[in-house]
Amino acid sequence: IRTIGVMTSGGDAPGMNAAIRAVARACAYYNVKCIGFYRGYQGMIEGDYIELNARSVRNIISRGGTILKSARSKDFITPEGRKKAADHLKEIGVDAMVLIGGDGTFKGGKIFSEEFEIPVIGVPGTIDNDIAGTNFTIGYDTALNTVVEAIDKIRDTASSHDRLFFVEVMGRDAGFIALNSGVGAGAEEILIPEEDLGLERLLESLKRSKRSGKSSSIVVVSEGDKIGKNVYELADYVTENMPDYDVRVTVLGHMQRGGTPSCFDRTLASRLCVKAVELLLDGEKNVMVGILNNEIAATSFDRGLKEKHSINKELLRISDILST
Ligand code: F6P
Repeated sequence: IRTIGVMTSGGDAPGMNAAIRAVARACAYYNVKCIGFYRGYQGMIEGDYIELNARSVRNIISRGGTILKSARSKDFITPEGRKKAADHLKEIGVDAMVLIGGDGTFKGGKIFSEEFEIPVIGVPGTIDNDIAGTNFTIGYDTALNTVVEAIDKIRDTASSHDRLFFVEVMGRDAGFIALNSGVGAGAEEILIPEEDLGLERLLESLKRSKRSGKSSSIVVVSEGDKIGKNVYELADYVTENMPDYDVRVTVLGHMQRGGTPSCFDRTLASRLCVKAVELLLDGEKNVMVGILNNEIAATSFDRGLKEKHSINKELLRISDILST
């Protein structure tokens, strides 16, 4: 392998720049050329790229977002799109790819690699943490800290006005962000797609905590939760049934994807990406790298995409205890 390509795809996540830096630096260390493609698969299709050397990734370890930009490419879903991408890689002389993104990125990578026999290694980068084969994805820790900081601020005003706040957080169909930030921010209730609390039980719990002397409360709602149609309808339902509570809704939105990456995310990105380059140079392909019990582990795309990263039920249990 003489040239390795790298790209970031799907929703961006803090730490992606640290990941790009680690790929470029590892390539420089092992005397391999490194090419960065812009906007994920779209840049591969359009031949939109930049050569990265050790110096071109200076000072990006601390920056949020991704210098290579990110996209969800519709063209790459088509065989014609993938053929164009493979032709460009051949033309430029790229022998293997490091793909930084979520499960959509890995699905595309698996098909592409099988069709054109180009070795690829996936690196999990998404704030959602919804990837099997790793305990943590790049960006998740930073997003948790962003959410907890925001909820701490909401708690101040909730407490001043004796209000009940519903705070919606991201995560797509997974409740990792909600569950972990909810425990970290001391939420009264945490609503996640993996566990159906039920509207009655939610009301019961809120009434119980009011009776026990709580005058304000925070309920963290994962965007994928199915309890109410959406967080506003949920808030309306609670207002109708508990008219003595002044209810407000805050949707945190895309701020959860931005910001300076935490040390944890930078280190995670650095470890995974050095390993990704080393695995390619050792002849490995079609796997994703992850962290399992603080060891770097490679998991085949087949297994990683089939399995589900389960939430930690222990957190749900202690959250009930702690909101007493
Ligand atoms: O996958 C990351 C994520 O931020 C999800 O949590 C969220 O559902 C989605 O991306 C939002 O996507 P977009 O940036 O396209 O609105």
